[in-house]
Amino acid sequence: MPRRPLPRLSMGAPLLAIGALLATSPASAEPRTSTIEECAACHGVDGIARDTEVPHLAGQNERYLYNQMMAFRSGKRQHKEMRYMARLMSAQEIAALAAYYAALPPR
Ligand code: HEC
Repeated sequence: MPRRPLPRLSMGAPLLAIGALLATSPASAEPRTSTIEECAACHGVDGIARDTEVPHLAGQNERYLYNQMMAFRSGKRQHKEMRYMARLMSAQEIAALAAYYAALPPR
């Protein structure tokens, strides 16, 4: 029987990526089931923030979102709450979140 290639988990498949994110990641000891709910507290369930101090994420450029979260994680972009949110995230989780929010309809 020929070996079938595994389906590719690409950045172009946000729903697939988010499925992987919601499943318990074997790479991290902590289950991340509530990540998006945590973000939603500030950025809105639909990626549209209700607070004027918080940026909208919906429809934002995927690469931009990824870069900003990596910068928060490293401390290059300074912000207390976002540093706290990003500090335990893997690059894979950040990529999945960036793809998820980029795919949401902008306001
Ligand atoms: C406690 C509230 C809070 C939570 C929770 C939160 N954020 Fe944020 N986030 C902010 C604020 C405030 C900013 C703006 C930071 C600044 O002014 O530099 C921000 C900025 C960002 C940015 C940069 C947006 C831009 O336009 O530059 C991204 C991306 C982001 N957050 C993603 C997330 C993700 C993903 C989560 C969940 C893991 C999350 N945030 C959770 C408050 C929050």
